[in-house]
Amino acid sequence: MEKKKKIMVDHKLQTSTIKNMYSKEFCDIYNKYGWDYFSETMGKAILQYIHLNKIHIVNHLDLACGTGTLCNYFYHHNFKTMGIDISKDMIDICKSKNNKIYFLVADMIIYNPNEKYDLVTITCDAINHILENKKVEQLFFNVYDMLNNGGYFIFDIYDADKLELNTNIVSNRDNEIKVNYYITERKNLINTNIKVMQNSNLVYEYNVLEKLYDIEYIKNLLFKCNFKIIKIADKILDENQRFKDKIYIICKK
Ligand SMILES: C[S@@+](CC[C@H](N)C(=O)[O-])C[C@H]1O[C@@H](n2cnc3c(N)ncnc32)[C@H](O)[C@@H]1O
Repeated sequence: MEKKKKIMVDHKLQTSTIKNMYSKEFCDIYNKYGWDYFSETMGKAILQYIHLNKIHIVNHLDLACGTGTLCNYFYHHNFKTMGIDISKDMIDICKSKNNKIYFLVADMIIYNPNEKYDLVTITCDAINHILENKKVEQLFFNVYDMLNNGGYFIFDIYDADKLELNTNIVSNRDNEIKVNYYITERKNLINTNIKVMQNSNLVYEYNVLEKLYDIEYIKNLLFKCNFKIIKIADKILDENQRFKDKIYIICKK
């Protein structure tokens, strides 16, 4: 299949068109109330997978890196790692946590690095934040170009069949803090209403809009970009690394 020509974008454009996706307040809340548990779990699972399959990784890039937890995890396991995120306030948090890692404000759909990577990751349904099919396609072509031959692309998306819609989902962060989620859907778009409660008082409320992608659509897109699909599953390895509404995809250039 003919490969689409990569769209060349200069670096100024990559940053000048960027809009903050998450507000500063939400970035602080995300950081403070431990949304990191997802990328920590992913970090452990990916590392185990890499070791088990004797995959050699030197260079890692985390797209939509959030507060930088996955990069930090790999940094402490001696990978050369870097992260980009469209939300400037997320990148500020990343930099304040580890100034030895290179973090950059950029849009992953058009990010066009000079370097090539052995592993590119996009975790915690960050792909579902993209609301147009053609942008997901552009992202996948871009990731393919960013990888060294034989490099891995590992990501997760929401499993539409397992999402609990119109239900109050409560996640306990500690004795005092609970996060309540309420997801509604309309024509493949989902709105997650997030309420952070401290001792039953509302501390913060935020809405995140995302799009659901069918796994067959994602598979076809990966094939179109020439990726080899290695694994599609509801967990990377172990049961304790499973999040019930996610699908994990491991593919290779
Ligand atoms: C649910 S958070 C996941 C963050 C991190 N990957 C994690 O596992 O905690 C989604 C992140 O995607 C980022 N994001 C959304 N669209 C993006 C884009 N087009 N380019 C870069 N980052 C993006 C948001 O700013 C946010 O930090």
